[in-house]
Amino acid sequence: MSLNEYLKQATDNGWAIGHFNASELDQMRSILDACKDASSPAMIGTSEGESKHLGLAEAVALRDAFRIKYGIPVFLNADHHKSAEAAIKAIDAGYDSVHIDLSSFPMEENIAGTKMVVDYARQRESRIKNQESRISVEGELGYLRGESKIHHEKIEVKPEDYTKVDQAKEFVARTGVDRLAIVIGNIHGIAPSHPHLDVQRVLDIRRAIPNSVALVLHGGSGIPDGEVEEVIGVGIANVHINTELRVAYVHGMKRGFELYPNEVSMYKLDQEAIKAMKLVVKEKLKLFGAVNKI
Ligand code: G3H
Ligand code: ZN
Repeated sequence: MSLNEYLKQATDNGWAIGHFNASELDQMRSILDACKDASSPAMIGTSEGESKHLGLAEAVALRDAFRIKYGIPVFLNADHHKSAEAAIKAIDAGYDSVHIDLSSFPMEENIAGTKMVVDYARQRESRIKNQESRISVEGELGYLRGESKIHHEKIEVKPEDYTKVDQAKEFVARTGVDRLAIVIGNIHGIAPSHPHLDVQRVLDIRRAIPNSVALVLHGGSGIPDGEVEEVIGVGIANVHINTELRVAYVHGMKRGFELYPNEVSMYKLDQEAIKAMKLVVKEKLKLFGAVNKI
């Protein structure tokens, strides 16, 4: 099944596909070990920075190798690519999915650039002609504050940051995106406090756009479990997690150095990091209701 088909199932049945960021081979392994154990489709994201570090071609080659090794659906997403050029490069490299994030531009520019990427993806698919090769394109509307790190100060989400229902409807109709990232009180990273997610807004946006378009929650780290469950229950079909994975991985690394101060083999030292990150992914898959969905 294609990513879009899994997303449609998630939308129809009230669960969400976990999107987990990675910039290292070992982090991909943590994600895939957890997804394999849970029988969940795996969606691995690389932001522009993570893509540069890993390499687009390398990420695609690893995905192909992992599909064979793990025997589960593995989808690779170019997360938060901030220009049509960057998103198109990822499509050309063989990514299954791109998130063209032009949310910092005025609505008309956002629509034009996003549509350009959607059109490009559709042209490429028509050359490949295989349902599994359908490229899923995500657009973003609203102002999502923060970045994937620990914030020591409160981040204020302003009323004008939120995704407007009528604009979401227009954006989806005019761009033809497969997924829409929305702002409903979420932020990137873990901050001392954040607003309660606007559940009613998710419901309203869900009702305003076709069922074939999946709603995406970014900034999944640090949100209380109950709130995540609530928004999945009303239509969020894809949840992005990065900061909690980064924290688990780096703390695991530090633990490895402390436990084995004389060790110099990286592949032995990083076992703690792999274990710690896998644990977080496992818990998130349960929370998202993504277990036994293959
Ligand atoms: O695209 C990535 C996610 O939105 C990650 O957000 O770092 O708050 O988990 P997070
Ligand atoms: Zn994000």
